[in-house]
Amino acid sequence: MMLTAAVMHAAQQHAAQMIAASGIVVTREELERIEVSDFGLSHLDVEGAQILTLFATHRVSAKIIALFGGQTLPEHCHTAFEQDAGKEETLRLVAGSLCLYLPGEDNMRVGHLPAGKEMCYTVKHEVVLLPGAQITLQPHTKHWFQAGEQGAVLYSFSSCARDILDTFTDPNIVRTTIVEAVPL
Ligand SMILES: [Fe+2]
Repeated sequence: MMLTAAVMHAAQQHAAQMIAASGIVVTREELERIEVSDFGLSHLDVEGAQILTLFATHRVSAKIIALFGGQTLPEHCHTAFEQDAGKEETLRLVAGSLCLYLPGEDNMRVGHLPAGKEMCYTVKHEVVLLPGAQITLQPHTKHWFQAGEQGAVLYSFSSCARDILDTFTDPNIVRTTIVEAVPL
């Protein structure tokens, strides 16, 4: 249940190239701290995400998410916590294409469920986003999304992010990616 440091590094480089190519202006320092997450599932190219947090204050956060072609960010929802009603999140696509899945009629046509993971994806109302499209998700709305063949670069703007509290449908998901220790 881990990724090698080499896989992590390659994914970070690939994501950095995608973000730079999308036209979003970021610094080299920012590109070097892109987080690579496999959600503890150890098949990054199928289920995973590369995430650059631009800022996260107590109230607001902005992130850039780069997904490789066909890569899926697993189904989850943002739950309430103490005084917090739960994270409201706006996704805005910058480059590539993205299939976003929400509660509602199953009209899935463009994207696909990750093989063998049918139990972990329960909402199948498909909305295809192209660059410039955005959608705001209210708290407690289950969602997942998948990049088209060319990958996707998107913004995630949200109220206070407490990613550790996100509820994933897949019980095997852990939010912390473990990098395999390589003996020197
Ligand atoms: Fe989310």
